[in-house]
Amino acid sequence: MAMTDTRPGVPVPVPAPAPPRTYAPRTAVPIRAGMPRRIDIADVTPNNVGQLRKLNSVLFPVRFSERWYKDVLEAQVADVSKFALFNDIPVGNVCCRFERLENKDEAKLYIMTLGCLAPYRRIGIASKLLEHVLEHGGPGKTVTFHDNSDKAKGDEKAAQGASAKKGQAKKDEDKKKKGEERRIVAVYLHVQTDNDEAKLFYEKHGFKEVERLDEYYHRGIEPRSAWVLEKRQ
Ligand SMILES: CC(C)(COP(=O)(O)OP(=O)(O)OC[C@H]1O[C@@H](n2cnc3c(N)ncnc32)[C@H](O)[C@@H]1OP(=O)(O)O)[C@@H](O)C(=O)NCCC(=O)NCCS
Repeated sequence: MAMTDTRPGVPVPVPAPAPPRTYAPRTAVPIRAGMPRRIDIADVTPNNVGQLRKLNSVLFPVRFSERWYKDVLEAQVADVSKFALFNDIPVGNVCCRFERLENKDEAKLYIMTLGCLAPYRRIGIASKLLEHVLEHGGPGKTVTFHDNSDKAKGDEKAAQGASAKKGQAKKDEDKKKKGEERRIVAVYLHVQTDNDEAKLFYEKHGFKEVERLDEYYHRGIEPRSAWVLEKRQ
């Protein structure tokens, strides 16, 4: 077992803070007023996805899987999954996914995470991220789905085999390659019901509460209830 060096002048190791278990507001240390404030939006890439893991571990009481981080790097969400940089330092992020709706032409954008480190709040960083997302994936925009799943490929082959008209099969194949374009009709997300600051933030941006779910979050996260907030055109 490692021993702590107690000689005078030797720094005492400080244990890492425990990850948050709720979205309750934490004390903010305001950034210095005179400091230059440059806020930029930056891509999430395989090289900096580790920064995203670090930010998420501080910002959210939910742990995200390896699969989740892999999906964030997909080309389809490149415009709606971003870092916010404050003077070049990543201090916030937004990560979204697109969801198909039953109506064949329509889709929704789901905001999985949107957060900013406490010392950098109330200076417009999250607003900048949200505005970027709405500009690229908000109501009225379009999204293309490329279905590359093995099942889809199998279905395609079966359809081709069964099709008497080879021309039609070729047309279907071309359409799949091009992707399936859908119109985005809404953007939505979940907010834990003790997180008034996030609710106020989204309401300021035109989101409305459309549902309340009592047991949305896993056991161990309190409260487990969530508001569903949505913005339509
Ligand atoms: C909610 C959150 C993203 C806001 O980030 P932010 O960078 O401080 O937001 P902005 O500076 O862009 O705030 C824009 C507006 O939202 C509202 N708002 C934001 N925080 C607020 C708070 N604590 N109390 C009241 N209103 C608030 C205000 O109207 C604010 O405008 P103003 O500062 O001119 O009054 C941030 O508090 C956060 O990261 N929380 C933890 C993670 C989280 O809960 N994410 C949401 C669930 S995905």
